[in-house]
Amino acid sequence: MATREPRYSGILVDNYDTLLQAWPHSGEMHRRLGKTIATHFRKHKGKAINVVEIGSGRGEATKYILEYEQRSKVIAIDPSDRMQEELATNFKSYISQGRLFPIRTKVLDCLELCAGQMDVLASAWALHNFPREERRKILKTGYEAMFPGALYLCMDKFVSDDPRKERRSLQVAVDRYRSISQKNKWPAGLAEAIIEHEVQDHQEPFVMRENEALQDLRDAGFSKPRIVKRIERDALVIAYKK
Ligand SMILES: C[S@@+](CC[C@H](N)C(=O)[O-])C[C@H]1O[C@@H](n2cnc3c(N)ncnc32)[C@H](O)[C@@H]1O
Repeated sequence: MATREPRYSGILVDNYDTLLQAWPHSGEMHRRLGKTIATHFRKHKGKAINVVEIGSGRGEATKYILEYEQRSKVIAIDPSDRMQEELATNFKSYISQGRLFPIRTKVLDCLELCAGQMDVLASAWALHNFPREERRKILKTGYEAMFPGALYLCMDKFVSDDPRKERRSLQVAVDRYRSISQKNKWPAGLAEAIIEHEVQDHQEPFVMRENEALQDLRDAGFSKPRIVKRIERDALVIAYKK
């Protein structure tokens, strides 16, 4: 069977720092994700907090998961060689301490292997790269793999279910990429590539509509799914396994 090329690859991965210029709130959202784990497990007596992070990239959220919760151990899944190399270079000491395990395994395979051992399933700007049906499978399998009391966290582009508002948020993103790419003289082709990706992110099967996404979590068995922070199109969604 042919392997599908990851959606987020090539010029986008090669210029990730540059792309982050368009989203100055990214640090705040990543930090909030890490802090939420530490807060949730404050009274937890366990020695380790086992986290699986989907699409960890170079470790923008991983960093805060590891820093804020000293007991966290993170399996960081990402298919991109470039992202994995940067993660390994940036977080060498966490790898040698046995707190960070970068892997390229398929998400569903990893979740099946983690059955009954996972305290947190997390992702930042990664889940939208999976078609909705695949996301629903990931949620279901993830739910089965979690301990009771476990936490689900997803920071991503959750657009409005209202088509007019959804189109408006796409326009804001496109305008932002156009103006910043001109002002900061981005490499040729980068703005076009990210705008094409962004347009697809707003279409089936990738679009993550807020209410649909919360319903997908309920369908998988999660309780109390809700948005705990939003900045522009980006939101942090939280849910629990009872
Ligand atoms: C926009 S980047 C986000 C990286 C990082 N989580 C962050 O917040 O900066 C999207 C990441 O999802 C990863 N990705 C794409 N397809 C994936 C898949 N099928 N499984 C796991 N990760 C995937 C990409 O390689 C990339 O690192």
